[in-house]
Amino acid sequence: MVSKEHLKKIGSRIFSEANDLKRTPETLAKDLGMKPQDVQNILDGERPIEDTYSLVARMGSTYPIDASDLLIPEDDTTNGVKIMRKDDSEASKRIFDRKDKTGALTPYYDYRDTAMSKLAPLKPEWIKELRAVENSDPENSDVAYNNGHFMHQATFFKGPVNFYWQDKDGIKHSSEMNTGDSNYITPFHPHSFTSRSQNEEALILAVTFGGDVRRAQKELYALGQRGVDGAMLDYRNHNSATSQLLKQHMRNERMSADNLQNLLESKGVSIELDSILSGKSPITEQERREISYVLNIEPSDLTIPKYRPEEEVIVKQKREEDGYNYPDNKNPNYRIHTLARTSKMPLMKGFDIQPLQRQIPIDKGTDNSLHTWAYNYGNENIGLSWYANGEVHKEVLHPGDSMIMQPYVPHSLSNPSDGDARLVSIGVPGALNLAAQKELSYFTSGERVAKETKKWF
Ligand SMILES: [Fe+2]
Repeated sequence: MVSKEHLKKIGSRIFSEANDLKRTPETLAKDLGMKPQDVQNILDGERPIEDTYSLVARMGSTYPIDASDLLIPEDDTTNGVKIMRKDDSEASKRIFDRKDKTGALTPYYDYRDTAMSKLAPLKPEWIKELRAVENSDPENSDVAYNNGHFMHQATFFKGPVNFYWQDKDGIKHSSEMNTGDSNYITPFHPHSFTSRSQNEEALILAVTFGGDVRRAQKELYALGQRGVDGAMLDYRNHNSATSQLLKQHMRNERMSADNLQNLLESKGVSIELDSILSGKSPITEQERREISYVLNIEPSDLTIPKYRPEEEVIVKQKREEDGYNYPDNKNPNYRIHTLARTSKMPLMKGFDIQPLQRQIPIDKGTDNSLHTWAYNYGNENIGLSWYANGEVHKEVLHPGDSMIMQPYVPHSLSNPSDGDARLVSIGVPGALNLAAQKELSYFTSGERVAKETKKWF
């Protein structure tokens, strides 16, 4: 049953689209061959969801718009948090077979869901490695690699797990991982996991997630290969990628190399444009500033993160001494170890967290801008307090429980039993990422951004 509040949200979104099309509810009704009162009732959330769907479908076939953009995923959290209990994870168990060295299909992974939400771009799985190997040779024919996948992956390891991956030249690598270790895998690198033990539990928390490319997926599917080929820069050759990006900005600005050179000279700037455009020379910071200025873009629009081959697949082994006490050593709430990081995905933030206090007042809690997934991987209960909708909420995360928390929810984690409590968490941005945030901040008001109420024209 869809709530009236949610129907009103979609109604408000339809109203916003009608606004963009310079249509009032009355003209909308006329264009769609509907009664004005019916349209108004749907916008007010007074009708069943089927009527909303039907209005959206009519708008999609009448106007040049993407009708699927009018539907809003329903918030499936309770006050910004969604918890999945261990038993529910267990009930989602699927065992997948893969070939062993004899060619026989035998159990390879035991897959279980952990907390997911309609709004969070995360698909985190609990995966137990069922294939035990006798050595860590990446060419071991008992290791079944996958074909690599579209989503980014951040993995947390628990127990004696071997991690295998294939680099872009097709060479296979392996690393022996243990509890607290982590990795990051760039999309489409083939990889695999096995156990180094017959009796000890070897498992991973494999957190796959989509970024901006995932959010552009609809457009990429619609445009086809031309869109992909057009957008993809030669990232692994930094000078060549910078030159491609510069040329794209020039084409967008309908400016030839000659035009650009003349424009720069008229400002008294002398730059060897040819060697930058040919990819022979790197662009200096000053050149980037001067060129951006005349192309009406920001220097950051002409900046590509430096290619670091070691960041294609990042393996991070936990070292106790790398941990830090948050917020300070005197009275720490948490002992924290950071998981694998990559500056090309600057907002992917994984942590191994030990809550240290029996209780933390909620005003000592903190929020962040990310969608966060967390899993209790230890043997102790963890207290979760959070503040949303004017109230403090409390839950207990038992061992094996997981949760999703929305952005901007102040929260704290406690250790009620005073034992060795352990939590792994991974945060990633949603569509409201840094680029969207900067654009939003230019707006003169945030009042009608998430709820259109006014006819503007
Ligand atoms: Fe994977």
